[in-house]
Amino acid sequence: MKEWYDAIKEAQSVEKLEDIRISVFGKKGVLADAFAGMKNAPDNEKSQIAKELNTHKNELMNEFTAKKIILQTLELQEAMKAEAIDVSLYGTSSEAGALHPVMQTMDRIVEYFSSMNFAVKTGTMVEDDFNNFEALNLPKYHPARDMQDTFYFKDEMLLRTHTSPVQIRTMMQTKPPIRMIAPGAVFRRDYDITHTPMFHQVEGLVVDEEGKVSFANLKYILEDFLKYMFGEVEVRFRPSFFPFTEPSAEVDISCVFCKGKGCRVCSQTGWLEVLGCGIVDPNVFKAVKYKNVSGYAFGLGVERFAMLIHQIGDLRSLFEGDIKLLEQFQ
Ligand code: DAH
Repeated sequence: MKEWYDAIKEAQSVEKLEDIRISVFGKKGVLADAFAGMKNAPDNEKSQIAKELNTHKNELMNEFTAKKIILQTLELQEAMKAEAIDVSLYGTSSEAGALHPVMQTMDRIVEYFSSMNFAVKTGTMVEDDFNNFEALNLPKYHPARDMQDTFYFKDEMLLRTHTSPVQIRTMMQTKPPIRMIAPGAVFRRDYDITHTPMFHQVEGLVVDEEGKVSFANLKYILEDFLKYMFGEVEVRFRPSFFPFTEPSAEVDISCVFCKGKGCRVCSQTGWLEVLGCGIVDPNVFKAVKYKNVSGYAFGLGVERFAMLIHQIGDLRSLFEGDIKLLEQFQ
């Protein structure tokens, strides 16, 4: 038996030790053999032999268990050493994230108006018919509603088609004077190279006592704002129609691509339309029960600004999550 004590002592691995265990304690191992061999021994020696064998069995088992713990611990330490991570090494490089170009543009717009003392208001994307249309002088069956088809829920609720309802929400909640912008997502049933079903607008509203807010104020702030966004551009106001303003205007800037000479982007006109605005229609004030006030309002599409600033050809590409496209705007 001595050789097996030595074998256990000298074993260098858990695997080797396992071989020894099978050879000693296994069904066909040396101990089993020895116990079986007892039948050939003289009867008067049998109990002595059995006693000795049992002692060996217990002692070998003790040796084996102790050695197994030692080897397992050593092997674990080896494995940990081999798999250790050197945290002081340089890592593989990772890409820095960045804001989406539409959000960058939105931030810049908000930055300008914040610096001009406009409060930032948010409404809700699910709006009711009153705030989105009715109070903005767009009664049911008004043909101007056709241009803003959207998703309707029950009970006259809908996905807002513009940020103008935030004007109504703000006026219903606060007394004049008001000086606010409302940035946010809006929804329309549109899809082509310059329209997506979801896009972003920034609305503006200034209300004060009658006679205190004029078209000249509106013109000044928008010209200043557009130069902040696009640099030295010409700004022109064209008469237009919006149900919630009277008079209304559309605002153009000289084409940022051809500097007003005429190109494909501006359809050879030299001008790009960038926003709508006007003097708040008295019917809007009536709807929110404001009296003896005057105001101006404006609304713009953020994606349109982003496309012009970054010279992006197809608006839809901004919403495809294409990393190759988006990482150009970091
Ligand atoms: N709500 C308009 C739209 O979505 C944009 C707009 C035009 C807003 C003129 C205004 C405004 O406040 O005065 O097309």
